[in-house]
Amino acid sequence: MTAMRFLDACRRKKTDATPVWFMRQAGRYMPEYRALRKKYSILELCEHPEAAAEVTLQPVRAFEVDAAILFADILLPVRPMGMSLTFVKGEGPCLSKPIRTAQDVARLRAFNPKEGLGYVLEAVRLVRAELEGKTPLIGFAGAPFTLASYMIEGGPSKDYRNTKAMMHGNPKAWRALMQKITQVTGAYLSAQAEAGAQALQLFDSWAGQLSKSDYDAFVLPYSRKVLKAASKTGVPVIHFATGTSHFLESFRDAGADVIGVDWRLGLDEAWKRIGYGRAVQGNLDPIHLQLPRPQLKKAVREVLKRAGGRRGHIFNLGHGVLTHTPPDNVRAVTEWVHEWTAN
Ligand code: CP3
Repeated sequence: MTAMRFLDACRRKKTDATPVWFMRQAGRYMPEYRALRKKYSILELCEHPEAAAEVTLQPVRAFEVDAAILFADILLPVRPMGMSLTFVKGEGPCLSKPIRTAQDVARLRAFNPKEGLGYVLEAVRLVRAELEGKTPLIGFAGAPFTLASYMIEGGPSKDYRNTKAMMHGNPKAWRALMQKITQVTGAYLSAQAEAGAQALQLFDSWAGQLSKSDYDAFVLPYSRKVLKAASKTGVPVIHFATGTSHFLESFRDAGADVIGVDWRLGLDEAWKRIGYGRAVQGNLDPIHLQLPRPQLKKAVREVLKRAGGRRGHIFNLGHGVLTHTPPDNVRAVTEWVHEWTAN
């Protein structure tokens, strides 16, 4: 690990090896994390800056990853906006009351991140102090669509029925909601950079649920605004979503420096469509981390082959680390990528 490898790759500069980090690199697959979770709920971990900093550092200590990602959750901003948030074991996040009408949207508060999410900003400062410039820290937020979908559905969804119903049936309420989330998210990301985050990632995990025309009309303008606000801070900005191959060009046009690619599309084809003027991040299938070593090795080689040794590849998964992943495989992949790409 060298301090600049990841940040240089974001800017498509030459690096001594391909940088590696893993989305959801802190979490239940790590014994150190499970030990802390015995004492704290997920929300308590987020709310206690020392605990959040500790979890952020766990994968940095355990593996030679080239970036740390702040331990927090994309759903935290819904609380200062006025919704309640709980995590129900086995069911995932639960938000109430779901936003369904223009009146519901009007009640949501556009909060100041220093007041509403000061504990996240404090965790950023603590992590930066502990990392001493050795590993860069990534801050993040949920993108307007993915956040809106949780706020409208009240939790995870298979068909995004209520979200799409508002988008098409009450476009005025939809636009008011997206505008409010856009404002809050832009300010939140800027505050994270100000507190010390050295790169910012916008997670639009479920945007791939939309058609290209719906993405272009109802989502793209808002993501573009958030990315613009994030870019103004001067740090590199990463934009991630899954299932974007049908609107990859629109997704690129939202304006991030680094485009996250999931495993469904070959990285060579994705990068060609995105254009070599942008950096790309991805795209090992997370389930491959659970394969026997020979198959895992082959899958990692395949991703690197498709990246073609170009400047601006950040090795990552196509989505987050899954719960049953052996931590040793995460370490092995990190070492292989560094070894095989060293120059
Ligand atoms: O990547 C990291 O290591 C940083 C931490 C991080 C978390 N959530 C911690 C967390 C990040 C970047 C997120 C982002 C996030 N949260 C996303 C976008 C990324 C993605 O995976 O698509 C989404 C959709 C969420 C919402 C969310 N939070 C879900 C669906 C869940 C799972 C609920 C469950 O019961 O499994 C969470 C909880 C959560 N956030 C966990 C972690 C480590 C699991 C926590 C636990 O139970 O200990």
